[in-house]
Amino acid sequence: MSGTREKVRIGVIGLSGRGMIANHWHQPDGKSIVVAGADINEKFLFGFKERMGPSVFVSTNYQEILKRSDVDAVAVTSPDFCHEEHAIAALEAGKDVFCEKPLTITTEGCDRILEAWHKSGKHLMVGFNMRYMNIFRCMKEIVGSGVIGEVKAVWVRHFVGHGGEWYYHNWMANRKNTTSLLLQKASHDFDMIHWISNSYTKRVAAFGSLDFYGGDKPNDLECPTCPERDKCNEFQIRPYHQYCAFRKEVDVEDNSTVIMELENGVKATYSQCHFAPDYFRNYTFIGTEGRVENLDDQFKVTVLTRNQSKKWKNLSNRTYDVKPAEGEHGGADPVICRDFIDMLITGKEPVATPVAGRMSVAVGCAATESMRAGGKVVEIPSLPSWIKGR
Ligand SMILES: NC(=O)c1ccc[n+]([C@@H]2O[C@H](COP(=O)([O-])OP(=O)(O)OC[C@H]3O[C@@H](n4cnc5c(N)ncnc54)[C@H](O)[C@@H]3O)[C@@H](O)[C@H]2O)c1
Repeated sequence: MSGTREKVRIGVIGLSGRGMIANHWHQPDGKSIVVAGADINEKFLFGFKERMGPSVFVSTNYQEILKRSDVDAVAVTSPDFCHEEHAIAALEAGKDVFCEKPLTITTEGCDRILEAWHKSGKHLMVGFNMRYMNIFRCMKEIVGSGVIGEVKAVWVRHFVGHGGEWYYHNWMANRKNTTSLLLQKASHDFDMIHWISNSYTKRVAAFGSLDFYGGDKPNDLECPTCPERDKCNEFQIRPYHQYCAFRKEVDVEDNSTVIMELENGVKATYSQCHFAPDYFRNYTFIGTEGRVENLDDQFKVTVLTRNQSKKWKNLSNRTYDVKPAEGEHGGADPVICRDFIDMLITGKEPVATPVAGRMSVAVGCAATESMRAGGKVVEIPSLPSWIKGR
């Protein structure tokens, strides 16, 4: 049907939290409309109906929305460990799919999603909204222009100031639900490294540990009823995201460093710390002629080039002011939502491809394996043979 639709009718699986992105698709007078939503928690169905209007279909069983002929496309915004089941079921039901990152929590699971996508002939796009942020688009353009020469090194420092708040009070703090935060959080960054360097990772090694969160508190301890709530910096009230960050079951690393070798020879490092006091992603790309770096999260990129006659002693320096667009995640969310609809209407290729989604998960899984085995080198499993070249 791609290329012949005028309006795309969307169903959403997982309605709270990231499910809010569906607001951008609900444009009854525009090119897309949200017609259905599913969530295992009944409470979120009511809020969804309030946002989308009384005629929206809701169910606690996601299969009910897949059966509906008035749903063209499905947004999978459920937890990471549900993505494989939900994305495959939606593709098999003949729906186009927007799947949040990480594509799923194992490389094999990603390959099963790719297979279902291939067999279905439908569109699949990954929620890599960083590809739509002006700051990273600017860095990609600068690298692509050749001004820093051939990229040879990439260094990423990720200060996750909201680490506790976002990851350690809920399901994300368990390996069984996420594999590790090198997927849940860093799948975006591995994708940025791949996208801007124009190559995928070949092998990795990593070190990491749980240095701050976790501990001996009971697994069912919640912040609002905790006797230490008045003196705890990690106290938060947010239903389903208020379990103690120092509980026993917490087992995902909060401090990790990954080294990567890409297929084109680029050497990259990525470091993530969840107890940093600030929130900032600092990217540096170094090429044979210079380097580019973002000086803050959204607004400034600097380019330093070597003066060939004077070598490193004389540098030319240029700073670009980048204006983020309006909206969440540096303005990326409204744009990625529009692009998903444009893809379904015009049939164009997605900016955030399924293969890119698989490759960033493969790096996260390999790095997790390495970090839990003392830092051994782990090769990235090849893509299924039928997909090569895509
Ligand atoms: N791209 C981004 O910037 C971005 C930002 C935030 C979250 N995410 C992704 O979105 C996903 C959801 O994250 P979140 O923070 O909203 O989590 P969350 O726990 O806040 O919300 C998940 C929702 O899914 C529902 N749910 C759980 N199991 C379900 C099932 N089997 N069927 C239907 N609904 C189910 C829950 O009840 C809840 O409403 C994650 O994969 C996360 O990585 C992406």
